[in-house]
Amino acid sequence: MELMEKIVSFCKRRGFIFPSSEIYGGFGSGYDFGPLGVEMKNNIKRLWWDEMTKFHENIVGLDAAILMSPKVWEASGHLSAGFADELLECKECHKRFRLDEIVNPKSKRSPQGRQGGGRVGVQNPNCPDCGGELTQPRKFNLMMKTFVGPVEDEASITYLRAETCQGIYMNYENVLSSMRLKIPFGICQIGKAFRNEITPKDFIYRTREFEQMEMQWFCHKKETEKWFDFWKKERMKWYLNLGIKKENIRFREHKKEELAHYAQKAVDIEYKFPFASPAGRQGWKEIEGIHDRGDWDLSNHSKFSGKDLKYFNDETKEKYFLHIIETSAGVDRSLLAFLIDAYEEVKGARTKTTEAVKETEIVLHLDKKLAPIKVAVLPLVKNKEELVKKSKEIYNLLKFHFVCQYDEVGSIGRRYRRQDEIGTPFCVTVDFDTLKQDDVTVRDRDTMKQERIKTEGLFQFFRENLTK
Ligand code: GAP
Repeated sequence: MELMEKIVSFCKRRGFIFPSSEIYGGFGSGYDFGPLGVEMKNNIKRLWWDEMTKFHENIVGLDAAILMSPKVWEASGHLSAGFADELLECKECHKRFRLDEIVNPKSKRSPQGRQGGGRVGVQNPNCPDCGGELTQPRKFNLMMKTFVGPVEDEASITYLRAETCQGIYMNYENVLSSMRLKIPFGICQIGKAFRNEITPKDFIYRTREFEQMEMQWFCHKKETEKWFDFWKKERMKWYLNLGIKKENIRFREHKKEELAHYAQKAVDIEYKFPFASPAGRQGWKEIEGIHDRGDWDLSNHSKFSGKDLKYFNDETKEKYFLHIIETSAGVDRSLLAFLIDAYEEVKGARTKTTEAVKETEIVLHLDKKLAPIKVAVLPLVKNKEELVKKSKEIYNLLKFHFVCQYDEVGSIGRRYRRQDEIGTPFCVTVDFDTLKQDDVTVRDRDTMKQERIKTEGLFQFFRENLTK
């Protein structure tokens, strides 16, 4: 089985990610996050939020509405050809493709950017599936249209937001004045975004509904290069600090012809995924974009709304549009990258002391801060009342501070393996010595080392060991 197939089936089996509306055959390649998936997703979002709002001065948060005036999307350029993919349809099987999926790998064309890129000639106009003839490419806008109110007419059309940052521009003035900010400053937001993707695929990599973590850094035009470089490095550090292996992550600068309609410069942070990517890129695909958006957004919103969105610098007495450096990460894509990076299959059993029956064990070496369950509490056996009672006491003591799981089903070896598989950093085993000495065994997921710790010291132990 290919690695990606294994990950998809693992995610379903262990409660990370399920296909959406599965009993009706699935829906539009959408996915739902299960009990462990949502814990991990919340960890990613909290770590990003803390990084932005606690560890960087001058960044504040926002939570804007998903539905906004359709004028926002007119001004932002998303309703025009800039935010469109080129679609081809097979005349035989009617399957649809994005141009960049079927273009001849040998063509000199540079890989198509998400929101930009010029129109290019198709070298091999046959359907990759059935060999049928393909239509000529036509532009397909990616905005998700909807109606507000009871009447479905032109006047009630609006769009589900395609990027969260537009909500930030809408509130730029409110935030600036209410928080008395001075340049450079940032506004960040986490939230859902929607795109009517022609071909959602590769599990949660490309979906029609996804979540973004975006930060907009407002600065003077003269400082854009400096800040672009700063944020590029900061964002790469974030992934590396959370355990992504160095060899699996890289920067890729966009060529001029790939730039999105709003960008003057763009660098992607790419992860080496185990699925196909545009020709010649061997799995490298974007998980985050760092963009120099210039004054595109504020000047266009000024023009379309008639509201002066220039910044007044009360030290220099100048008035000008601020330039924006954006960091735009996908929650879903980061989660997928973290999962894949942490996934290890160990041939034969890791534990030699117990009756391991599986030929292959899975260990998820997630960073402790990302792990959905932090501590599992396990009585050595479930049919000894005192052990169960003591285990539940310990579980009840820890559960308010750390996400814990109590598990008494199966042999202790089997329970360790179950926890290793979902990336739980520590297992606490309550055994007969516990009843005499009031200490427990704490087992480390990665080293499998076990140490005895007094139950009264457990909280302190986990506080120290789960945060570093
Ligand atoms: N505001 C800029 C912007 O939206 P983007 O490169 O189009 O830029 C930013 O998207 C990030 O959003 C991507 O790096 C990716 O992580 C995530 N993203 C975009 N489209 C997505 C999709 N269809 N499915 C999942 N994630 C997506």
